[in-house]
Amino acid sequence: MKIAVMGTGTVGRALAGRFAELGHDVTVGTRDVASTLAREPEQGESYTAWARANPAVGLASFADAAAGSELNVNAASGQAAIEVLGAAGEGNLAGKVLIDVSNPLDFSGGLPPTLSVKDTDSLGERIQRAFPEALVVKTLNTMNASLMADPRRLAGGDHSVFVSGDDPDAKRTVADLLEQMGHTDVVDLGDITTARGAEMVLPLWLRLFGAFGTAEFNFKVVR
Ligand SMILES: NC(=O)c1ccc[n+]([C@@H]2O[C@H](COP(=O)([O-])OP(=O)(O)OC[C@H]3O[C@@H](n4cnc5c(N)ncnc54)[C@H](OP(=O)(O)O)[C@@H]3O)[C@@H](O)[C@H]2O)c1
Repeated sequence: MKIAVMGTGTVGRALAGRFAELGHDVTVGTRDVASTLAREPEQGESYTAWARANPAVGLASFADAAAGSELNVNAASGQAAIEVLGAAGEGNLAGKVLIDVSNPLDFSGGLPPTLSVKDTDSLGERIQRAFPEALVVKTLNTMNASLMADPRRLAGGDHSVFVSGDDPDAKRTVADLLEQMGHTDVVDLGDITTARGAEMVLPLWLRLFGAFGTAEFNFKVVR
């Protein structure tokens, strides 16, 4: 499948690398290709060093990446997500599955971040309203990037991932992709309004991160 991953951060790289490893044709989207390639990392490796280790993954503007894709992934910062998807182009999102992994985290008041939307709305819903012809599926936002990409790193992948979205076929496509990646317990929460719950576990996730001192953990729903 031709996949465009909007985002050059930890999540964008982890997902893009994993999709490519699984044989998909992957392009990462960014604001400006030249400045992304020239950028020194604040932490971790530079995009250029990562790209050298992942030569099958392309890099293009948000619009160019989305123009050629069959499925899009929003791995942009929560505060910039609508703007990034707007740059990708409404027409380039229309009729395609849009996996949304973003969290509406607001760091403006310091740490821990708060949720900029919650209770009666969610970022997943805002994205769906802004791009009504995209088939938005919220998923993977409840775990760290390395577990999103390869859940087998922890307990053989025996933990849960949630999907929320209005289109049943889109959710099936995403569930298939998640299973290819190694996710074993894909829980369909329901329509896109159920993204509220998936986003509102973030305050708990952040406190668990603090308590454990590592992001290598995930939720498992026992039933
Ligand atoms: N890190 C994790 O483990 C994790 C886990 C669960 C969910 N998430 C969610 O996944 C998303 C991605 O997280 P991340 O840590 O990989 O990356 P991030 O630093 O939150 O976002 C990086 C991406 O956002 C774009 N961006 C940032 N500010 C922008 C602005 N003002 N205008 C346009 N684009 C902007 C950047 O564009 P350029 O490429 O042009 O720089 C880049 O592609 C976030 O929503 C986060 O909440 C992260």
